[in-house]
Amino acid sequence: MQTELSKKLGIEHAIFGFTPFPAVAAAISRAGGFGVLGAVRYTAPDDLKRDLDWLEAHVEGMPYGLDVVMPAKKVEAPKNQILTEAEVEAMIPEGHRRFVTETLAKYGVPELAEGEASGWRITGWMEQVARNQLDVAFDYPIKLLANALGSPPADVVARAHDQDVLVAALAGSARHARKHAEGGIDIVVAQGYEAGGHTGEIATMVLTPEVVDAVDPLPVLAAGGIGSGQQVAAALSLGAQGVWLGSIWLTTTEADMHSAGVTRKLLAAGSGDTVRSRALTGKPARQLRTEWTDAWDDPDGPGTLPMPLQGLLVAEAVSRIQKYEIEPLLGTPVGQIVGRMNSERSVQAVFDDLTRGFEHAVDRINRIAGRSGQ
Ligand SMILES: Cc1cc2nc3c(=O)[nH]c(=O)nc-3n(C[C@H](O)[C@H](O)[C@H](O)COP(=O)(O)O)c2cc1C
Repeated sequence: MQTELSKKLGIEHAIFGFTPFPAVAAAISRAGGFGVLGAVRYTAPDDLKRDLDWLEAHVEGMPYGLDVVMPAKKVEAPKNQILTEAEVEAMIPEGHRRFVTETLAKYGVPELAEGEASGWRITGWMEQVARNQLDVAFDYPIKLLANALGSPPADVVARAHDQDVLVAALAGSARHARKHAEGGIDIVVAQGYEAGGHTGEIATMVLTPEVVDAVDPLPVLAAGGIGSGQQVAAALSLGAQGVWLGSIWLTTTEADMHSAGVTRKLLAAGSGDTVRSRALTGKPARQLRTEWTDAWDDPDGPGTLPMPLQGLLVAEAVSRIQKYEIEPLLGTPVGQIVGRMNSERSVQAVFDDLTRGFEHAVDRINRIAGRSGQ
């Protein structure tokens, strides 16, 4: 499965895998794909350094990349001033804090132990945190830097290019994709509505060819709802130069989900069991539908806050829900492909399935086109 882009990056299969877990990223690269480590949860530069050291030692010389989250639109301080986390926290209204406390009390969610920090505290979408991550990452031989939620700033693109690092950005519409292209990026990830995590409103089947046409000749990766070789073949037929998968890795044996309850829920969920909700971060993100997302999406509730306030507001609550495995509230970002994630498999087994399914799909189309035997 070779495209111009996969040849340029020196990978065997044009399959890119986003994952928050270093062990999964390494396994994707070793399997012949391109592992991309999500950096958003790394608040401390030393933690990112530790995991990039580990990744570098376990990719067996294969290429890999890093994904940061620099939102184009966010709660910003006036005139380029960068707010501290405490200053941002102070912007959270009291009524919203009360809603969190009351909802947790309703389900009897215990407190964290004294001194125990919230494991889900994600501040990587605050620009200063993302910039600190980049300072660490550029010391490693990353081959790709991806940015979610907008075009990366011009200085970041220039810095990456100076170090021969390709820059990718996620886009949920052709308009976003054109903006990325104008910003000088190298690869657009066309991410459809079905995808896990932050997503737009256009389905992958419609979005991919629109983005391919909009940014031609820039290479496009199709993302959202892809979890089988047949879907990979479909994406490449739509003009993509590869696929970008996120959800499918969550139930691999290498994934460190920290919660057996979440894995159980993922394995049991059908494709209709997700919702696009602002409950987790303040921006619409596809995730398992739970009584927690229902509470936030209820028109009688207080409504969600803009990014990054919502993420800070719910961080401790999400950690408590995960730690004590409060079943009705327990969730995670995941896409509609969760309906196919019915067993725990190794990353290599997922790759074998994707490549075999791709070959079957190509054979089938060849037969339909009257080219059997070729
Ligand atoms: C648990 C999870 C976390 C994600 N976090 C990020 C992120 O931090 N940055 C990013 O660019 N994309 C993130 N995404 C989106 C993925 O990069 C990818 O575009 C998406 O998962 C593709 O659709 P799929 O889930 O149907 O495979 C996340 C996806 C999941 C499932």
